[in-house]
Amino acid sequence: MTGGAGDGAMFAYVAVAVAFLLAGVAAGVALMLRSQRRRDRRFREAQAALHASEDRLRWAVEATSEIVWDWDLVQDTIYHPCWAQTYGFPEERTPRTGKELASFIHPEDMPRFHAEMSKAAAGAQESFEVEHRALTGSGDWMWMNGRGRVVARDVGGKATRIVGTCTDVTERKRMLARLQIADRMASIGTLAAGVAHEINNPLAYVIGNLAYSLQRLEPLVARPEGQRGTGGDATETVRACLAALREAEAGAERVRDIVRDVKLFSRAGEEARTPVPVAPVLHAALALAGNEIRHRARVALEVGDVPPVLGNESRLSQVFLNLLVNAAQSIPEGHADRNVIRVVARRSGDGAVTVEVHDTGCGIAPESRKRIFDPFFTTKAAGFGTGLGLSICHGIVTALGGEIEVESEVGKGSTFRVTLPAAAAPAAEAPRPAPPPPQRARRRARILVVDDEPLFCRMVERALGGEHDVVALTDAREALRRVRAGERYDALLTDLAMPVLSGMALHDEIARVDPGLAERTLFATGGAFTPLTTEFVARHAGRVLEKPLGAGALREAVAGVLERAPLALDPPAA
Ligand SMILES: Nc1ncnc2c1ncn2[C@@H]1O[C@H](COP(=O)(O)OP(=O)(O)OP(=O)(O)O)[C@@H](O)[C@H]1O
Ligand SMILES: [Mg+2]
Repeated sequence: MTGGAGDGAMFAYVAVAVAFLLAGVAAGVALMLRSQRRRDRRFREAQAALHASEDRLRWAVEATSEIVWDWDLVQDTIYHPCWAQTYGFPEERTPRTGKELASFIHPEDMPRFHAEMSKAAAGAQESFEVEHRALTGSGDWMWMNGRGRVVARDVGGKATRIVGTCTDVTERKRMLARLQIADRMASIGTLAAGVAHEINNPLAYVIGNLAYSLQRLEPLVARPEGQRGTGGDATETVRACLAALREAEAGAERVRDIVRDVKLFSRAGEEARTPVPVAPVLHAALALAGNEIRHRARVALEVGDVPPVLGNESRLSQVFLNLLVNAAQSIPEGHADRNVIRVVARRSGDGAVTVEVHDTGCGIAPESRKRIFDPFFTTKAAGFGTGLGLSICHGIVTALGGEIEVESEVGKGSTFRVTLPAAAAPAAEAPRPAPPPPQRARRRARILVVDDEPLFCRMVERALGGEHDVVALTDAREALRRVRAGERYDALLTDLAMPVLSGMALHDEIARVDPGLAERTLFATGGAFTPLTTEFVARHAGRVLEKPLGAGALREAVAGVLERAPLALDPPAA
């Protein structure tokens, strides 16, 4: 019985112990499950945060115009998600390795790219940056700015992973190039204006004196035989001198034309702008270039429905004339049936008009292309090209807020593309010039000439001295003193730029003393290049004579000014 009671107690004891044990295990398991759930929840939260972060990163990458890349240098694998889309290739062309990537970088830029990246990879620097050209799906090259940063290195310090970006800088580079050209043009323009002025002053009396000498010598050899003197040798000498003078005159006239072009180039932006219809400008330019084109190419003109452009008619004709002459000169003579110069005018985006001049000529070599807009750059033989045509075009077009660009392939031809802002209003009808005043009988007039250049004064004295009485002075103050003292003149011809007292100041002073003479003042200028003189010249446009001017033009201008106003020395009307 005792044993039975002891067994019962033992059993109860064991049962309690097992119960405790089980409870403990259960509690342990519950605890484990709870912490497992907590871990799972944390894991899920961490995963969700990771996805969110991944999404944010992807969206950020997709939102920028940058290509983000990640290069594992150990495996040589590259990850760059937007590559194909950026460069315009199908997705499967995306390079996966460094070697594949290299075939998309311009061969000339590859050594630089490689050198910069190697420096960073070897540990000389943490990051690198290099501009390079990258191939696009259309076969063109676009300029990229590539930046990379080493994010992992092995124990030896060699980079194992580089992450970076690439930015399209093509437009920025293009803009910069345009700005550089514009800047260069501006400084050459200033220089050109000064040089033109300096050349025009002496050229004025070179041309004037040549014309005078020719005019005086020609009658000597043209006289009938009987009226000539006895000296046959002298006549021969005069003939020889005449021939030499004519050649010198031709040379001086060529210099004058070049200086005129230089001045055009330096002054491109100064004219008033009005709405100019494109078709008449192109017709006019084609008519002027007709002789150059006729034996070399056919002309095809396609003018779409384009609005007028804002500009200056004669300057725009000049632009297209220069482009047409260049196009013609790029084609050898004799095969007009096989060559074509095509002129196309069409609307282009944002209220602009584009005119293209295509030719099937020799094309422009890549090394020349950078320089064709530079003044005096020419590939033509001496005497055939001055190299100013395109720089004048560039000056005029950019001054009008437009652009000029070129595409060319050697052996196939060139296309010059001019884009100009369209004018808002239709072209206003040009005012008709006033009919010339009735001719008056000419008589000897008293002309006051003021120019600080004594040789110019002498030339004017010679040119006008046959018809008029000329008083030529080199000091404007002396001229003013004489007019103030009551000396009367029928006309005044004064230089604009003179030391101490300029032609403008002289004119203004004379207007107080003798307003009639101020009205009958002609201004001679070798080039107006200060804002003040430019404005003055614009205000007195009809009375400004551009140096150098021939004796004939000088006499015409003086006659014009004498005819326009009543003569100071005319007897008073009865
Ligand atoms: N349509 C074209 N085809 C081929 N080459 C061209 C064309 N237009 C210009 N060029 C090149 O550009 C150079 C510069 O042209 P630009 O009109 O400024 O001067 P030019 O024609 O040589 O002389 P200029 O116009 O002063 O008589 C030319 O000498 C020529 O080499
Ligand atoms: Mg030319």
